[in-house]
Amino acid sequence: MTDPKTYHVKSYGCQMNVYDGERMAELMAAQGLTASDDPNAADLVVLNTCHIREKATEKVYSEIGRLRKGAAELGRDKPMIAIAGCVAQAEGEEIIRRAKVDVVVGPQAYHNLPQLVADAAKGQASLDTDMPAIAKFGALPARRKVGPTAFLTVQEGCDKFCTYCVVPYTRGAEVSRSFDALVDEAKALVDAGAREITLLGQNVNAWSDGEQGLEHLIMALDKVAGLERIRYTTSHPNDMTQGLIDAHAHVEKLMPFLHLPVQAGSDRVLKAMNRSHSRDSYLRILDRVRAARPDIALSGDFIVGFPGETDAEFEETLSLVHEVRYAQCFSFKYSPRPGTPAAEMTDDFIPDDVASERLQRLQAALNTHQQAFNEAIVGRSCDVLIERKGRHAGQMIGKSPWLQSVHLETHAQIGDMVTVDIVSAGPNSLGGVAKVKAAA
Ligand code: 5AD
Ligand code: SF4
Repeated sequence: MTDPKTYHVKSYGCQMNVYDGERMAELMAAQGLTASDDPNAADLVVLNTCHIREKATEKVYSEIGRLRKGAAELGRDKPMIAIAGCVAQAEGEEIIRRAKVDVVVGPQAYHNLPQLVADAAKGQASLDTDMPAIAKFGALPARRKVGPTAFLTVQEGCDKFCTYCVVPYTRGAEVSRSFDALVDEAKALVDAGAREITLLGQNVNAWSDGEQGLEHLIMALDKVAGLERIRYTTSHPNDMTQGLIDAHAHVEKLMPFLHLPVQAGSDRVLKAMNRSHSRDSYLRILDRVRAARPDIALSGDFIVGFPGETDAEFEETLSLVHEVRYAQCFSFKYSPRPGTPAAEMTDDFIPDDVASERLQRLQAALNTHQQAFNEAIVGRSCDVLIERKGRHAGQMIGKSPWLQSVHLETHAQIGDMVTVDIVSAGPNSLGGVAKVKAAA
């Protein structure tokens, strides 16, 4: 195999993987490789994988097969294939044995990708799944041009050990990046074009540097000229400090949106999940958040069909949904993850048809609240950050402060902040009319 000249990075799963994928692309570009939009035409394909749910591992193996077939159909040599992300961490050498890929690199080791690729080019399949604490960030090239919205990983890993979740095993223990490094990277992102930054972490609100909590970082970013909006995700209820809640009341650039997963509405299920919060303690946190920022859009994650979940316990999830009136949510059927405690509870597994029915009912309930939240904005005006072109000529799509997609006809360009009258609401988006600026 020769040194690759072109690369393609394909990321699956969470926003942290999207961030890692961008940083790997920057690394490859810094090595002089050219990006290829078509994975079948690239010399090096990085599959940045996710292991959180469903048959993640099997999907990776079929994707490897597809890539080799795609290259053969184009009459090209087999591409060099690098498996990154959480499947790489979980499977390790097994992927090299089974699929003969060239590189396997874990989420904490991808700064070593250039060396691993160079070794693979000499015919040496190479693997690095070490988990040094946050070493990689110091070894990555500077941020390049970005769009109006950018991700910034501030914290990685998880110490919570929810019994269904693979993250503590694939991403390791909670580690925070330093305050100074983050402020520097945020400024670099703004210089590269970002107007909105979303702070990322598996437990982003557990971020700390000495005495400083996430609210201190948010307050520092609030002072960065040119940055207009700050968001953060994903938070854990137990790390939702009063200081961070208060930031929602007084930090102007912090957007009125909170993603705070609860997973289930029954205390027995929450305990079996090792969530370390109760239904009531979660609801009381939301009371304080709403007291600080009455218009906040609330979001969450749910798992239905956790081992042993009864019909009555599932009803408690539904009643919690009606109590909170979420603006939007993610919901999933429980999927056993090898190596996690819940995967051992095989006697209590819920039949798939029961779990599917629960998921449908939950999603129907979530949709009614999402629609109601969207309709409540109609007749108001708000700022919209334009992110991309729409399907029709002259149509642009941006985001409201509450993270809704807003469609509008405008001459405004990507990256502009526009004041918009909201005139219609669908389940997944709003329609708006740009306000005409009064003549000066
Ligand atoms: N099965 C189903 N959903 C899961 N999640 C995490 N692990 C599992 C699993 N084993 C969901 C949780 C989490 C989100 C990122 O993915 O809801 O908050
Ligand atoms: Fe997984 Fe729970 Fe950690 Fe979230 S808090 S990453 S669900 S173990």
